[in-house]
Amino acid sequence: MNSYTIGGVELKSRVVLAPMAGVSDRAYRELCLSFGAGLCFSEMVSSKALSFNSKKSEELMEISPAERPCGIQIFGDEPLCMAQAAERALKNSPQLIDINMGCPAPKISTNGSGSALMRNPALCGEIVKEVVKASNVPVTVKIRKGWDDESVNAVEVAKICEQAGASAITVHGRTRQQYYKPPVDYEIIKKVREAVSIPVIANGDIDSAQKACRVISETGCKLLMVGRASLGNPWIFSQINSYLSNPNEPLYYPSAEEKLDVMIGHIEKMCEYKGEHMALLQARKLVVGYFKGMKGAASLRNDAGRISKIEDLYALKERALSACRAY
Ligand SMILES: Cc1cc2nc3c(=O)[nH]c(=O)nc-3n(C[C@H](O)[C@H](O)[C@H](O)COP(=O)(O)O)c2cc1C
Repeated sequence: MNSYTIGGVELKSRVVLAPMAGVSDRAYRELCLSFGAGLCFSEMVSSKALSFNSKKSEELMEISPAERPCGIQIFGDEPLCMAQAAERALKNSPQLIDINMGCPAPKISTNGSGSALMRNPALCGEIVKEVVKASNVPVTVKIRKGWDDESVNAVEVAKICEQAGASAITVHGRTRQQYYKPPVDYEIIKKVREAVSIPVIANGDIDSAQKACRVISETGCKLLMVGRASLGNPWIFSQINSYLSNPNEPLYYPSAEEKLDVMIGHIEKMCEYKGEHMALLQARKLVVGYFKGMKGAASLRNDAGRISKIEDLYALKERALSACRAY
């Protein structure tokens, strides 16, 4: 059996759950790890908000025992503030600290954080150096291909981060200007992998076991990161793991009933961790993924936008099941 490590931290498999704000909370991370994700990351946490003692940011960093290994991701553009954020994050005993250098959202990047850091490679190096100095766990970095097509510098930034002490780099093979538009440039991920000697995690549009296999062969990366394709489909982790260990083994696809049971368990866990009101508001987006491909999905999606109590979700599950049986 192969083992995969980052700075000495052992991963449970080679497929990592992507950090996703509004999605990858404690409940989601537990779920995906239980389905075969090898490592997970928190939603991004603002270093500046932490310096103002934001309770919400502190809560984002809570990690339950069932979600290990787990990294906490922080963002910001001031090296010392980022180092202090790392110190606070470490109180939750994460296995890794991750630095966000890829977020394209204007509210993050217009402040010089997230993907905007890639426009200033020297600052990227300073931030990594200070965070590494403040941390007693490995520090990883998540970057994009570059800011735009005229400034593709993932290789340069990755080398600077490695030099400054980073233990792994995730590369999302799109520029900031692309946001999430296709295509993903796997060639740039390969170039980064060839340029550094720390592990590189390939990310972007990995949505099936077969695609995972292709990305490994195109990039040469041993580690992969999956984000959106896991929404409503945590089975993608076990499918990728199974396919990579034996492509001839038939892949397991869940029935509609099983999907809906997992959906209920997921949202119930959210209720436990953050209260029913907040959990159900966030669940409106999340449950849509579980309905994908189901009979009557369009109408279920519509109704998902109105759920506000856990009973509403139970009723929606029953409707989904009857729709499946009616066909
Ligand atoms: C809803 C959402 C929230 C995200 N939040 C974060 C985040 O907090 N930190 C981060 O580094 N990337 C974030 N991302 C980017 C993902 O981690 C990932 O790089 C991107 O979705 C591409 O991977 P995928 O094609 O497998 O989804 C987010 C993406 C989505 C869709």
